[in-house]
Amino acid sequence: MHLPNYSDARRREDKDYKRVDFEFSEEIKNKYKGKTFFLKTYGCQMNEHDSENIEALLMTLGFSKVDDYEEADLVLLNTCSIRENAHNKAFGMLGRLKHLKEQKKDLIIGLCGCMAQEASVVEEIMQKYKFVNFVFGTHNLYQLPEIIDKAVSESKQQIEVFSKEGDLVEGLPVVRANNYKAYVNIIYGCNKFCTYCIVPYTRGRERSRVKEDILKEIDELISSGYKEVTLLGQNVNAYGKDLYEDYTLANLLEDIAKKDIPRVRFMTSHPWDFTDSMVEVIGKYQNIMPSVHLPVQSGSSRILKLMGRRYTKESYLELFNKIKKTVPGVAISTDIIVGFPGETEEDFLETLDLVEKCKYDNAFTFIFSPREGTPACKLKDDVSLEEKENRLQRLNTVVNKYFLENNKKLEGRVVPVLVEGLSEKNDMYFGYTDTNKLINFFVDRKIEVGDIVNVKVTSAKTWSLDGELVE
Ligand code: 5AD
Ligand code: SF4
Repeated sequence: MHLPNYSDARRREDKDYKRVDFEFSEEIKNKYKGKTFFLKTYGCQMNEHDSENIEALLMTLGFSKVDDYEEADLVLLNTCSIRENAHNKAFGMLGRLKHLKEQKKDLIIGLCGCMAQEASVVEEIMQKYKFVNFVFGTHNLYQLPEIIDKAVSESKQQIEVFSKEGDLVEGLPVVRANNYKAYVNIIYGCNKFCTYCIVPYTRGRERSRVKEDILKEIDELISSGYKEVTLLGQNVNAYGKDLYEDYTLANLLEDIAKKDIPRVRFMTSHPWDFTDSMVEVIGKYQNIMPSVHLPVQSGSSRILKLMGRRYTKESYLELFNKIKKTVPGVAISTDIIVGFPGETEEDFLETLDLVEKCKYDNAFTFIFSPREGTPACKLKDDVSLEEKENRLQRLNTVVNKYFLENNKKLEGRVVPVLVEGLSEKNDMYFGYTDTNKLINFFVDRKIEVGDIVNVKVTSAKTWSLDGELVE
């Protein structure tokens, strides 16, 4: 048994971690043929991509996938810790699974992902959720086959969570959710320790993948017909810092852009690490999509300091304007937190002012959620929930206004679209533009999912565009 522990997770060591190739233990390959699994994923793209590995590992064990958890022999929850409601959703699901297990004694239930890295969660599972068969964390996903096998053969609850990141495991099998768009991890973990954020504890310190491994994965995706890759990391802009003297995200983006891949995206960027050469490379290559996610969190320099964000409103705006100037037609999106402890009405007005200046193409807005173990959790929080909700509503009104305004500017324009599928009513196709906007469009000839086509925007809404195929 290995239990999670935040004081270990907080400690960063400069030791070299090893890059090792994954090997699936032969004895348990296909051992569970005929059994089924249901996998539920909460949270970010990183988790979605981890689930693509989990699915492949389960299939190698012999399990096949079902879409209804009540039908499954094994139910696995890949969880998220970022805000309290992600927590509540997973615990709610565990409640439903408890009832199911009362009727289905052989049901195997597991929990993994970020919540598994939290000591308080694991304690609660050990005490109140004894029906959960196994728990493993974000650092030992590759051990899933052995952990499940042990959970099935021994009736004891298996808790296998490492608080320190181990080796960097390459070559995990993967079942990708999409045949044309792929996620590619480039860096794991985060060293920024923003005071509100739990990620540096749940995902460990920054570890970049070796560039040759990344480029090889992209070559394989190209040969399999992939049209778009999204480079993933909690902070992609720190890529390479832990591995190389002079090979950064700018170099990696450039090496990838020179390949025959029509669309390259990356997320998420921390403004602190966003160098001029990165901005230039994004502007230089047609196949690096003009779409940047640049979380600001707050427009008040005072709150930014309390958040430990390492930039001010002014320096953020400088970077924002540099990107806008250098990358033609770029769409910039952001994340914003309201109600950080001590946020005054004046601080909040600074956030609204920043939004008025940036006129974001998209924004994800949140009420501050105290996360146990983070420094902000200990700060005195004197803003009432009512006030926080009011600020969120006022913020959403302003951000929505600009989503629509930006979309309206595209009316009459022709935009490239990667076709994703047919709409529910089967009368329109849908896909995403280069700037990552959802568009529904009519066609007058045969097109295929995975094509990149030109679509004329006929009307704009707040959350999507309508259009028609041209040429
Ligand atoms: N409370 C509210 N929002 C948070 N985020 C991260 N931690 C918290 C928290 N404790 C938001 C940030 C981040 C996004 C992924 O989630 O805006 O960029
Ligand atoms: Fe949630 Fe962060 Fe974990 Fe992603 S990395 S699942 S956002 S806590």
